[in-house]
Amino acid sequence: MTLEPAPADTRTAPWWADAVIYQVYPRSFADADGDGMGDLPGITARLDHLARLGVDALWLSPFYLSPQHDAGYDVADYRQVDPRFGTLADFDALREKADALGIRTIVDLVPNHTSSEHVWFQQALASAPGSPERDRYLFRDGRGPDGAEPPNNWTSVFGGPGWTRVPDGQWYLHLFDVTQPDLNWHNREVVAEFDDVLRFWLDRGVAGFRVDVAHGLVKHPDLPDWDGHTAMVEGTTRADGADPIEEHVPAPMFDQDGVHEIYRHWNEVLAEYDGDRMMVAEAWVEPAPRLAKYVRPDEMQQAFNFEFLIEGWDAAGMARAVENVMSANEAVGAPTTWVLSNHDVVRHASRFGLADPTHRPPGIGPDDEQPDAGVGLRRARAATLAMLALPGSAYLYQGEELGLPEATQLPAEVRQDPTFVRSGGAELGRDGCRVPLPWQAGAPAYGFSPTGASWLPQPAAFADHAVDVQEGVPGSTLELYRQLTALRRQLRLGTGTMAWADVHAPDEGVLAFTTEGVLVVLNASGRSFELPAGAELLLASVPDAVDGGALAPDTAVWLRLP
Ligand code: NOJ
Repeated sequence: MTLEPAPADTRTAPWWADAVIYQVYPRSFADADGDGMGDLPGITARLDHLARLGVDALWLSPFYLSPQHDAGYDVADYRQVDPRFGTLADFDALREKADALGIRTIVDLVPNHTSSEHVWFQQALASAPGSPERDRYLFRDGRGPDGAEPPNNWTSVFGGPGWTRVPDGQWYLHLFDVTQPDLNWHNREVVAEFDDVLRFWLDRGVAGFRVDVAHGLVKHPDLPDWDGHTAMVEGTTRADGADPIEEHVPAPMFDQDGVHEIYRHWNEVLAEYDGDRMMVAEAWVEPAPRLAKYVRPDEMQQAFNFEFLIEGWDAAGMARAVENVMSANEAVGAPTTWVLSNHDVVRHASRFGLADPTHRPPGIGPDDEQPDAGVGLRRARAATLAMLALPGSAYLYQGEELGLPEATQLPAEVRQDPTFVRSGGAELGRDGCRVPLPWQAGAPAYGFSPTGASWLPQPAAFADHAVDVQEGVPGSTLELYRQLTALRRQLRLGTGTMAWADVHAPDEGVLAFTTEGVLVVLNASGRSFELPAGAELLLASVPDAVDGGALAPDTAVWLRLP
Protein backbone atom coordinates (compact mmCIF):
# COMPACT_ATOMS: atom_id res chain seq x y z
CA MET A 1 0.00 0.00 0.00
CA THR A 2 1.31 3.45 -0.88
CA LEU A 3 0.03 6.36 1.13
CA GLU A 4 0.31 9.63 -0.68
CA PRO A 5 -0.28 12.70 1.39
CA ALA A 6 -0.80 15.90 -0.52
CA PRO A 7 0.92 18.08 -1.37
CA ALA A 8 3.82 15.92 -2.51
CA ASP A 9 5.51 18.63 -4.53
CA THR A 10 7.94 20.34 -2.16
CA ARG A 11 8.62 23.19 -4.55
CA THR A 12 5.10 24.45 -4.23
CA ALA A 13 4.13 23.14 -0.80
CA PRO A 14 3.67 25.76 1.91
CA TRP A 15 6.20 25.85 4.74
CA TRP A 16 3.89 24.19 7.25
CA ALA A 17 3.29 21.05 5.16
CA ASP A 18 6.39 19.32 6.52
CA ALA A 19 7.34 21.68 9.37
CA VAL A 20 8.69 20.53 12.71
CA ILE A 21 6.87 22.72 15.23
CA TYR A 22 7.99 23.01 18.85
CA GLN A 23 5.45 23.70 21.58
CA VAL A 24 6.64 26.20 24.15
CA TYR A 25 4.67 26.18 27.39
CA PRO A 26 5.53 29.69 28.62
CA ARG A 27 5.02 28.99 32.32
CA SER A 28 7.71 26.33 32.26
CA PHE A 29 10.26 27.09 29.55
CA ALA A 30 12.54 29.72 31.10
CA ASP A 31 12.06 32.36 33.77
CA ALA A 32 13.98 35.62 33.24
CA ASP A 33 12.62 37.68 36.14
CA GLY A 34 13.09 35.05 38.83
CA ASP A 35 9.51 34.79 40.09
CA GLY A 36 9.40 31.05 39.42
CA MET A 37 7.04 31.41 36.47
CA GLY A 38 8.46 31.30 32.94
CA ASP A 39 8.09 34.42 30.80
CA LEU A 40 8.52 35.79 27.29
CA PRO A 41 11.97 37.35 27.89
CA GLY A 42 13.06 33.95 29.25
CA ILE A 43 11.95 32.32 26.02
CA THR A 44 13.67 34.95 23.89
CA ALA A 45 16.91 34.43 25.79
CA ARG A 46 16.76 30.69 25.07
CA LEU A 47 15.71 30.78 21.41
CA ASP A 48 19.14 29.56 20.38
CA HIS A 49 18.13 26.21 21.84
CA LEU A 50 15.32 25.97 19.29
CA ALA A 51 17.59 27.09 16.47
CA ARG A 52 20.10 24.37 17.38
CA LEU A 53 17.27 21.89 17.60
CA GLY A 54 16.47 22.68 13.97
CA VAL A 55 12.76 23.38 14.30
CA ASP A 56 10.81 25.42 11.77
CA ALA A 57 8.34 27.09 14.10
CA LEU A 58 7.40 27.48 17.73
CA TRP A 59 3.89 27.40 19.09
CA LEU A 60 3.35 29.42 22.24
CA SER A 61 0.67 28.22 24.63
CA PRO A 62 -1.35 31.19 25.98
CA PHE A 63 0.52 34.15 27.51
CA TYR A 64 -2.46 36.53 27.45
CA LEU A 65 -3.94 38.41 30.38
CA SER A 66 -5.53 35.72 32.52
CA PRO A 67 -6.28 34.84 36.13
CA GLN A 68 -4.56 31.51 35.32
CA HIS A 69 -7.33 29.26 36.57
CA ASP A 70 -6.54 26.97 33.64
CA ALA A 71 -2.92 27.95 33.10
CA GLY A 72 -3.84 30.72 30.67
CA TYR A 73 -6.53 28.87 28.69
CA ASP A 74 -8.85 31.25 30.53
CA VAL A 75 -8.24 34.51 28.69
CA ALA A 76 -9.34 37.83 30.18
CA ASP A 77 -7.96 39.98 27.35
CA TYR A 78 -6.94 38.51 24.01
CA ARG A 79 -4.81 41.52 23.08
CA GLN A 80 -2.77 41.88 26.26
CA VAL A 81 0.20 39.97 27.56
CA ASP A 82 -0.24 38.90 31.16
CA PRO A 83 2.27 40.81 33.32
CA ARG A 84 3.48 37.45 34.65
CA PHE A 85 4.78 36.74 31.16
CA GLY A 86 5.85 40.24 30.10
CA THR A 87 4.56 42.89 27.72
CA LEU A 88 3.55 43.24 24.10
CA ALA A 89 7.01 44.67 23.46
CA ASP A 90 8.45 41.44 24.89
CA PHE A 91 6.26 39.48 22.50
CA ASP A 92 7.47 41.57 19.54
CA ALA A 93 11.07 41.05 20.59
CA LEU A 94 10.53 37.30 20.83
CA ARG A 95 8.84 37.09 17.45
CA GLU A 96 11.50 39.23 15.79
CA LYS A 97 14.38 37.22 17.19
CA ALA A 98 12.67 33.98 16.25
CA ASP A 99 12.18 35.27 12.71
CA ALA A 100 15.84 36.24 12.55
CA LEU A 101 16.72 32.67 13.50
CA GLY A 102 14.42 31.33 10.78
CA ILE A 103 11.78 30.17 13.27
CA ARG A 104 8.15 31.16 12.74
CA THR A 105 5.86 31.96 15.68
CA ILE A 106 2.42 30.42 16.13
CA VAL A 107 0.16 31.61 18.95
CA ASP A 108 -2.72 29.93 20.73
CA LEU A 109 -6.25 31.13 20.10
CA VAL A 110 -8.90 30.25 22.69
CA PRO A 111 -12.28 30.93 21.06
CA ASN A 112 -14.54 28.42 22.80
CA HIS A 113 -14.60 30.27 26.10
CA THR A 114 -13.24 33.37 27.80
CA SER A 115 -12.18 33.83 31.39
CA SER A 116 -14.94 34.84 33.78
CA GLU A 117 -12.78 37.94 34.32
CA HIS A 118 -13.16 38.98 30.69
CA VAL A 119 -14.98 42.32 30.48
CA TRP A 120 -17.76 40.69 28.44
CA PHE A 121 -18.54 38.17 31.13
CA GLN A 122 -18.47 40.83 33.80
CA GLN A 123 -20.94 42.84 31.70
CA ALA A 124 -23.09 39.76 31.24
CA LEU A 125 -23.25 39.20 34.99
CA ALA A 126 -24.22 42.84 35.53
CA SER A 127 -26.95 42.70 32.87
CA ALA A 128 -30.43 41.26 32.85
CA PRO A 129 -31.47 37.88 31.42
CA GLY A 130 -32.18 38.28 27.72
CA SER A 131 -29.82 41.27 27.36
CA PRO A 132 -27.35 41.62 24.47
CA GLU A 133 -24.55 41.29 27.05
CA ARG A 134 -25.79 37.85 28.08
CA ASP A 135 -26.25 36.78 24.48
CA ARG A 136 -22.48 36.67 23.96
CA TYR A 137 -22.44 33.61 26.24
CA LEU A 138 -24.73 30.62 26.71
CA PHE A 139 -27.05 31.72 29.50
CA ARG A 140 -30.26 29.71 29.94
CA ASP A 141 -33.07 29.36 32.46
CA GLY A 142 -32.93 26.25 34.58
CA ARG A 143 -35.29 23.30 34.63
CA GLY A 144 -37.74 22.33 37.34
CA PRO A 145 -40.50 24.44 38.89
CA ASP A 146 -38.19 27.18 40.16
CA GLY A 147 -35.45 26.69 37.59
CA ALA A 148 -33.17 25.21 40.23
CA GLU A 149 -32.06 22.35 37.99
CA PRO A 150 -29.43 23.04 35.32
CA PRO A 151 -30.73 23.44 31.75
CA ASN A 152 -29.37 20.02 30.80
CA ASN A 153 -27.21 17.26 32.23
CA TRP A 154 -23.90 18.17 30.58
CA THR A 155 -20.79 17.82 32.67
CA SER A 156 -17.55 19.73 32.50
CA VAL A 157 -14.58 18.06 30.81
CA PHE A 158 -12.68 18.81 34.03
CA GLY A 159 -15.36 17.06 36.13
CA GLY A 160 -18.45 18.34 37.90
CA PRO A 161 -21.48 20.03 36.33
CA GLY A 162 -21.22 21.95 33.07
CA TRP A 163 -23.53 24.72 34.27
CA THR A 164 -23.27 27.28 37.07
CA ARG A 165 -26.11 29.38 38.41
CA VAL A 166 -25.84 33.15 38.79
CA PRO A 167 -27.64 35.15 41.52
CA ASP A 168 -30.66 36.09 39.34
CA GLY A 169 -31.35 32.39 38.77
CA GLN A 170 -30.05 31.88 35.22
CA TRP A 171 -27.34 29.38 34.42
CA TYR A 172 -24.29 29.68 32.14
CA LEU A 173 -22.55 26.87 30.29
CA HIS A 174 -18.88 26.09 30.86
CA LEU A 175 -17.56 22.97 29.21
CA PHE A 176 -14.38 23.42 31.24
CA ASP A 177 -13.79 25.21 34.54
CA VAL A 178 -16.48 27.33 36.16
CA THR A 179 -14.22 30.31 35.35
CA GLN A 180 -14.31 29.50 31.59
CA PRO A 181 -17.79 30.48 30.31
CA ASP A 182 -18.53 29.24 26.78
CA LEU A 183 -19.09 31.87 24.12
CA ASN A 184 -22.15 31.96 21.86
CA TRP A 185 -20.83 31.67 18.32
CA HIS A 186 -24.22 32.56 16.86
CA ASN A 187 -23.70 36.06 18.21
CA ARG A 188 -22.36 38.50 15.59
CA GLU A 189 -20.29 40.44 18.09
CA VAL A 190 -18.42 37.27 19.01
CA VAL A 191 -17.65 36.57 15.36
CA ALA A 192 -16.49 40.15 14.74
CA GLU A 193 -14.37 40.22 17.89
CA PHE A 194 -12.41 37.14 16.91
CA ASP A 195 -11.86 38.45 13.38
CA ASP A 196 -10.26 41.41 15.04
CA VAL A 197 -8.21 39.28 17.43
CA LEU A 198 -6.90 37.23 14.50
CA ARG A 199 -5.90 40.42 12.68
CA PHE A 200 -4.31 41.86 15.80
CA TRP A 201 -1.84 38.96 15.98
CA LEU A 202 -1.44 38.56 12.22
CA ASP A 203 -0.48 42.23 12.07
CA ARG A 204 2.11 41.50 14.75
CA GLY A 205 3.70 38.95 12.45
CA VAL A 206 2.53 35.59 13.73
CA ALA A 207 2.68 32.71 11.26
CA GLY A 208 -0.50 31.15 12.52
CA PHE A 209 -2.76 29.95 15.29
CA ARG A 210 -3.26 26.78 17.26
CA VAL A 211 -7.03 26.79 17.77
CA ASP A 212 -8.09 25.50 21.19
CA VAL A 213 -11.13 23.17 21.38
CA ALA A 214 -11.76 23.81 17.70
CA HIS A 215 -14.58 21.28 17.65
CA GLY A 216 -16.51 22.92 20.49
CA LEU A 217 -17.56 26.36 19.33
CA VAL A 218 -21.00 25.40 18.04
CA LYS A 219 -23.38 23.40 20.20
CA HIS A 220 -26.47 21.47 19.14
CA PRO A 221 -29.23 24.13 19.02
CA ASP A 222 -31.51 22.17 21.37
CA LEU A 223 -28.79 21.62 24.00
CA PRO A 224 -30.16 18.09 24.50
CA ASP A 225 -29.22 15.91 27.46
CA TRP A 226 -26.25 13.65 26.80
CA ASP A 227 -24.95 10.87 29.01
CA GLY A 228 -21.54 10.25 27.50
CA HIS A 229 -18.18 11.21 28.84
CA THR A 230 -15.59 13.49 27.29
CA ALA A 231 -11.90 13.26 28.05
CA MET A 232 -9.32 15.67 26.82
CA VAL A 233 -7.41 14.65 23.70
CA GLU A 234 -9.15 11.31 23.27
CA GLY A 235 -12.64 12.72 22.94
CA THR A 236 -16.04 11.32 23.72
CA THR A 237 -17.26 7.96 24.91
CA ARG A 238 -20.94 7.18 24.54
CA ALA A 239 -22.85 6.10 27.60
CA ASP A 240 -24.62 3.33 25.67
CA GLY A 241 -21.24 1.78 24.94
CA ALA A 242 -21.68 2.09 21.18
CA ASP A 243 -18.45 2.68 19.33
CA PRO A 244 -18.51 6.29 18.17
CA ILE A 245 -16.29 5.32 15.28
CA GLU A 246 -18.59 2.60 13.98
CA GLU A 247 -21.71 4.66 14.38
CA HIS A 248 -20.86 8.32 14.31
CA VAL A 249 -23.16 10.51 16.32
CA PRO A 250 -21.21 13.44 17.74
CA ALA A 251 -21.84 14.55 21.29
CA PRO A 252 -24.17 17.59 21.18
CA MET A 253 -21.46 19.93 22.42
CA PHE A 254 -18.74 18.84 19.99
CA ASP A 255 -18.03 18.49 16.29
CA GLN A 256 -21.28 20.03 15.15
CA ASP A 257 -21.28 20.81 11.44
CA GLY A 258 -21.71 24.53 12.14
CA VAL A 259 -18.09 24.92 13.26
CA HIS A 260 -16.90 24.62 9.67
CA GLU A 261 -18.49 27.87 8.62
CA ILE A 262 -16.34 29.65 11.21
CA TYR A 263 -13.15 28.11 9.84
CA ARG A 264 -14.05 28.85 6.25
CA HIS A 265 -14.41 32.46 7.27
CA TRP A 266 -11.10 32.50 9.17
CA ASN A 267 -9.42 30.94 6.16
CA GLU A 268 -10.44 34.06 4.23
CA VAL A 269 -9.09 36.33 6.94
CA LEU A 270 -5.70 34.58 6.88
CA ALA A 271 -5.64 34.69 3.09
CA GLU A 272 -5.55 38.50 3.29
CA TYR A 273 -2.00 38.12 4.62
CA ASP A 274 1.16 36.99 2.89
CA GLY A 275 3.44 34.13 3.87
CA ASP A 276 1.17 31.09 4.08
CA ARG A 277 -0.30 31.85 7.49
CA MET A 278 -1.90 28.78 9.01
CA MET A 279 -4.23 27.35 11.63
CA VAL A 280 -3.98 24.01 13.40
CA ALA A 281 -7.10 22.58 14.98
CA GLU A 282 -7.04 21.06 18.41
CA ALA A 283 -10.11 18.90 17.90
CA TRP A 284 -10.77 15.61 19.67
CA VAL A 285 -12.76 14.22 16.81
CA GLU A 286 -13.14 10.69 15.53
CA PRO A 287 -13.18 8.97 13.14
CA ALA A 288 -10.40 10.34 10.93
CA PRO A 289 -12.70 11.39 8.05
CA ARG A 290 -14.63 13.64 10.47
CA LEU A 291 -11.37 15.23 11.59
CA ALA A 292 -10.28 15.65 7.97
CA LYS A 293 -13.24 17.96 7.42
CA TYR A 294 -11.37 20.57 9.47
CA VAL A 295 -8.54 20.57 6.93
CA ARG A 296 -10.54 20.81 3.74
CA PRO A 297 -8.90 23.25 1.30
CA ASP A 298 -10.96 26.24 2.44
CA GLU A 299 -10.75 25.62 6.21
CA MET A 300 -7.76 25.07 8.48
CA GLN A 301 -4.37 24.01 7.24
CA GLN A 302 -3.67 21.36 9.89
CA ALA A 303 -5.37 19.40 12.66
CA PHE A 304 -3.56 17.53 15.42
CA ASN A 305 -3.65 13.84 14.68
CA PHE A 306 -4.27 12.53 18.18
CA GLU A 307 -5.07 9.04 16.93
CA PHE A 308 -1.34 8.34 16.60
CA LEU A 309 -0.68 9.60 20.14
CA ILE A 310 -3.57 7.61 21.57
CA GLU A 311 -2.36 4.28 20.19
CA GLY A 312 0.70 4.33 22.44
CA TRP A 313 3.63 1.93 22.08
CA ASP A 314 1.98 -0.66 19.86
CA ALA A 315 3.10 -1.28 16.28
CA ALA A 316 -0.31 -2.48 15.09
CA GLY A 317 -2.05 0.53 16.62
CA MET A 318 0.47 2.96 15.21
CA ALA A 319 0.15 1.38 11.76
CA ARG A 320 -3.63 1.63 11.97
CA ALA A 321 -3.43 5.30 12.93
CA VAL A 322 -1.02 6.04 10.09
CA GLU A 323 -3.32 4.41 7.55
CA ASN A 324 -6.52 5.93 8.90
CA VAL A 325 -5.27 9.45 9.14
CA MET A 326 -3.25 9.52 5.95
CA SER A 327 -6.04 8.13 3.82
CA ALA A 328 -8.60 10.47 5.40
CA ASN A 329 -6.36 13.47 4.79
CA GLU A 330 -5.49 12.35 1.31
CA ALA A 331 -9.19 12.44 0.49
CA VAL A 332 -9.25 16.18 1.24
CA GLY A 333 -5.76 16.93 -0.10
CA ALA A 334 -4.20 17.89 3.24
CA PRO A 335 -0.88 16.77 4.70
CA THR A 336 -0.90 15.02 8.05
CA THR A 337 0.46 16.05 11.44
CA TRP A 338 2.09 13.85 14.08
CA VAL A 339 2.44 14.37 17.80
CA LEU A 340 3.37 12.18 20.77
CA SER A 341 3.32 14.60 23.72
CA ASN A 342 1.79 17.92 24.71
CA HIS A 343 0.81 19.84 27.85
CA ASP A 344 -2.39 17.79 28.30
CA VAL A 345 -1.03 14.24 28.37
CA VAL A 346 1.50 12.20 30.35
CA ARG A 347 4.85 12.54 28.59
CA HIS A 348 5.47 9.70 26.14
CA ALA A 349 8.80 8.82 27.78
CA SER A 350 6.75 7.85 30.84
CA ARG A 351 3.59 6.45 29.19
CA PHE A 352 5.72 3.99 27.24
CA GLY A 353 7.39 2.81 30.46
CA LEU A 354 4.13 1.58 32.01
CA ALA A 355 3.39 -2.16 32.20
CA ASP A 356 0.77 -1.47 29.53
CA PRO A 357 2.48 1.03 27.22
CA THR A 358 -0.80 1.82 25.47
CA HIS A 359 -2.33 3.07 28.71
CA ARG A 360 -2.98 6.83 29.02
CA PRO A 361 -3.58 7.62 32.69
CA PRO A 362 -4.95 11.08 33.51
CA GLY A 363 -1.76 11.94 35.39
CA ILE A 364 0.53 9.75 37.49
CA GLY A 365 0.93 10.25 41.24
CA PRO A 366 3.09 8.78 44.03
CA ASP A 367 0.54 6.03 44.75
CA ASP A 368 0.23 4.91 41.14
CA GLU A 369 2.25 2.44 39.14
CA GLN A 370 5.59 4.13 38.46
CA PRO A 371 6.87 4.01 34.89
CA ASP A 372 10.14 2.24 34.12
CA ALA A 373 12.14 5.32 33.12
CA GLY A 374 14.78 3.45 31.13
CA VAL A 375 12.35 1.38 29.09
CA GLY A 376 10.04 4.37 28.61
CA LEU A 377 12.77 6.62 27.28
CA ARG A 378 14.18 3.92 24.99
CA ARG A 379 10.74 3.43 23.43
CA ALA A 380 10.04 7.16 23.31
CA ARG A 381 13.21 7.75 21.32
CA ALA A 382 12.25 4.96 18.91
CA ALA A 383 8.71 6.28 18.44
CA THR A 384 10.02 9.79 17.82
CA LEU A 385 12.46 8.46 15.25
CA ALA A 386 9.58 6.85 13.36
CA MET A 387 7.36 9.90 13.74
CA LEU A 388 9.95 12.28 12.33
CA ALA A 389 10.28 10.19 9.18
CA LEU A 390 6.57 10.13 8.40
CA PRO A 391 5.29 12.44 5.67
CA GLY A 392 3.70 15.59 7.04
CA SER A 393 4.37 17.98 9.86
CA ALA A 394 5.44 17.00 13.39
CA TYR A 395 4.87 18.67 16.75
CA LEU A 396 7.36 18.37 19.60
CA TYR A 397 6.53 19.28 23.19
CA GLN A 398 9.16 21.18 25.16
CA GLY A 399 11.40 18.87 27.13
CA GLU A 400 10.86 15.78 25.03
CA GLU A 401 14.13 16.59 23.28
CA LEU A 402 15.73 16.13 26.71
CA GLY A 403 13.96 12.81 27.25
CA LEU A 404 12.15 14.34 30.21
CA PRO A 405 9.96 11.99 32.19
CA GLU A 406 6.63 12.92 33.74
CA ALA A 407 6.95 14.25 37.31
CA THR A 408 5.14 11.49 39.18
CA GLN A 409 5.77 12.49 42.79
CA LEU A 410 4.01 15.85 42.94
CA PRO A 411 2.17 16.19 46.25
CA ALA A 412 -1.50 17.18 46.17
CA GLU A 413 -0.83 20.60 47.67
CA VAL A 414 1.29 21.79 44.74
CA ARG A 415 -1.09 20.61 42.03
CA GLN A 416 -2.69 23.46 40.07
CA ASP A 417 -4.63 21.77 37.28
CA PRO A 418 -8.37 22.48 37.73
CA THR A 419 -9.02 18.87 36.74
CA PHE A 420 -7.53 17.75 40.05
CA VAL A 421 -9.85 19.94 42.09
CA ARG A 422 -13.00 19.48 40.00
CA SER A 423 -12.65 15.70 39.91
CA GLY A 424 -12.10 15.61 43.67
CA GLY A 425 -8.61 14.25 43.07
CA ALA A 426 -9.90 11.30 41.01
CA GLU A 427 -7.97 12.68 38.04
CA LEU A 428 -4.54 13.92 39.02
CA GLY A 429 -4.42 16.17 36.00
CA ARG A 430 -1.70 17.54 33.84
CA ASP A 431 0.79 19.20 36.19
CA GLY A 432 3.22 16.29 35.85
CA CYS A 433 4.03 17.14 32.23
CA ARG A 434 4.22 20.88 32.92
CA VAL A 435 7.16 21.03 35.32
CA PRO A 436 9.79 23.68 34.43
CA LEU A 437 12.64 22.60 32.17
CA PRO A 438 16.17 21.81 33.40
CA TRP A 439 18.84 23.83 31.58
CA GLN A 440 21.89 23.48 33.86
CA ALA A 441 22.31 20.55 36.23
CA GLY A 442 24.26 22.52 38.82
CA ALA A 443 22.25 25.75 38.87
CA PRO A 444 19.32 26.75 41.09
CA ALA A 445 16.07 25.32 39.67
CA TYR A 446 18.37 23.61 37.16
CA GLY A 447 18.82 26.93 35.40
CA PHE A 448 15.09 27.51 34.87
CA SER A 449 15.09 30.60 37.06
CA PRO A 450 17.92 32.79 38.38
CA THR A 451 16.47 32.71 41.90
CA GLY A 452 15.85 28.98 42.05
CA ALA A 453 12.10 29.54 42.23
CA SER A 454 9.89 27.16 40.27
CA TRP A 455 6.07 27.20 40.22
CA LEU A 456 6.09 23.39 40.35
CA PRO A 457 8.89 21.49 42.09
CA GLN A 458 11.32 19.80 39.71
CA PRO A 459 12.18 16.14 40.38
CA ALA A 460 15.81 15.40 41.26
CA ALA A 461 15.98 13.18 38.16
CA PHE A 462 15.68 16.32 36.00
CA ALA A 463 19.36 17.04 36.74
CA ASP A 464 20.39 14.09 34.56
CA HIS A 465 18.32 15.50 31.71
CA ALA A 466 19.59 19.10 31.84
CA VAL A 467 20.61 20.65 28.54
CA ASP A 468 24.22 21.20 29.68
CA VAL A 469 24.55 17.54 30.66
CA GLN A 470 23.48 16.38 27.19
CA GLU A 471 25.09 19.08 25.07
CA GLY A 472 27.66 17.54 22.73
CA VAL A 473 27.31 14.09 24.29
CA PRO A 474 27.00 11.46 21.56
CA GLY A 475 23.95 9.32 22.11
CA SER A 476 22.17 11.82 24.37
CA THR A 477 18.51 12.41 23.64
CA LEU A 478 19.20 16.06 22.83
CA GLU A 479 21.85 15.15 20.26
CA LEU A 480 19.55 12.50 18.80
CA TYR A 481 16.79 15.08 18.25
CA ARG A 482 19.28 17.47 16.63
CA GLN A 483 20.47 14.72 14.31
CA LEU A 484 16.89 13.74 13.50
CA THR A 485 15.78 17.22 12.45
CA ALA A 486 18.97 17.81 10.45
CA LEU A 487 18.79 14.52 8.58
CA ARG A 488 15.05 14.86 8.08
CA ARG A 489 15.65 18.19 6.38
CA GLN A 490 18.58 16.92 4.33
CA LEU A 491 16.71 13.83 3.12
CA ARG A 492 13.49 15.81 2.68
CA LEU A 493 11.59 13.38 4.84
CA GLY A 494 8.21 14.80 5.65
CA THR A 495 7.65 15.87 2.08
CA GLY A 496 7.21 12.67 0.18
CA THR A 497 5.10 9.59 0.05
CA MET A 498 5.44 6.48 2.14
CA ALA A 499 4.80 2.81 1.57
CA TRP A 500 4.80 -0.08 3.99
CA ALA A 501 8.03 -2.02 3.57
CA ASP A 502 8.28 -5.74 2.82
CA VAL A 503 9.35 -6.36 6.40
CA HIS A 504 6.38 -4.45 7.86
CA ALA A 505 4.71 -6.86 10.30
CA PRO A 506 2.57 -4.80 12.67
CA ASP A 507 0.84 -7.80 14.22
CA GLU A 508 4.25 -9.10 15.19
CA GLY A 509 5.27 -5.75 16.62
CA VAL A 510 7.33 -4.41 13.72
CA LEU A 511 6.44 -1.17 11.97
CA ALA A 512 8.41 -0.61 8.77
CA PHE A 513 7.97 1.84 5.93
CA THR A 514 9.95 3.41 3.15
CA THR A 515 9.99 7.07 2.31
CA GLU A 516 12.36 9.13 0.13
CA GLY A 517 14.72 6.17 -0.28
CA VAL A 518 14.87 5.57 3.48
CA LEU A 519 13.70 2.42 5.24
CA VAL A 520 12.38 3.07 8.73
CA VAL A 521 12.03 0.10 11.08
CA LEU A 522 10.60 0.27 14.62
CA ASN A 523 10.79 -2.82 16.78
CA ALA A 524 8.04 -3.05 19.41
CA SER A 525 8.03 -6.84 19.28
CA GLY A 526 10.00 -7.55 22.45
CA ARG A 527 12.48 -9.67 20.44
CA SER A 528 15.43 -8.91 18.18
CA PHE A 529 14.44 -8.36 14.59
CA GLU A 530 16.64 -9.32 11.62
CA LEU A 531 17.14 -6.25 9.38
CA PRO A 532 17.33 -6.58 5.59
CA ALA A 533 20.92 -7.23 4.51
CA GLY A 534 22.96 -4.58 2.79
CA ALA A 535 21.20 -1.47 4.07
CA GLU A 536 23.32 1.40 5.36
CA LEU A 537 22.56 2.63 8.87
CA LEU A 538 21.71 6.33 8.83
CA LEU A 539 20.47 6.86 12.36
CA ALA A 540 19.53 4.72 15.34
CA SER A 541 17.30 5.59 18.29
CA VAL A 542 19.98 4.39 20.73
CA PRO A 543 23.67 3.69 20.07
CA ASP A 544 23.31 -0.09 20.58
CA ALA A 545 20.15 -0.51 18.51
CA VAL A 546 21.76 -2.68 15.85
CA ASP A 547 23.85 -5.67 16.77
CA GLY A 548 25.03 -8.18 14.17
CA GLY A 549 22.38 -7.10 11.67
CA ALA A 550 19.52 -7.39 14.17
CA LEU A 551 17.44 -4.56 15.59
CA ALA A 552 17.16 -4.71 19.38
CA PRO A 553 13.74 -4.53 21.08
CA ASP A 554 12.34 -1.06 21.82
CA THR A 555 14.49 0.66 19.20
CA ALA A 556 14.15 2.06 15.70
CA VAL A 557 16.44 2.91 12.79
CA TRP A 558 16.61 4.88 9.58
CA LEU A 559 18.39 2.85 6.90
CA ARG A 560 19.50 3.82 3.38
CA LEU A 561 18.10 1.27 0.98
CA PRO A 562 20.74 -0.46 -1.14
C1 NOJ B 1 -7.27 22.32 25.48
C2 NOJ B 1 -5.99 22.81 26.06
O1 NOJ B 1 -4.93 22.16 25.46
C3 NOJ B 1 -6.09 22.54 27.54
O2 NOJ B 1 -4.86 22.74 28.18
C4 NOJ B 1 -7.19 23.40 28.12
O3 NOJ B 1 -7.34 23.10 29.49
C5 NOJ B 1 -8.51 23.15 27.40
N1 NOJ B 1 -8.35 23.11 25.98
C6 NOJ B 1 -9.49 24.23 27.74
O4 NOJ B 1 -9.12 25.44 27.13
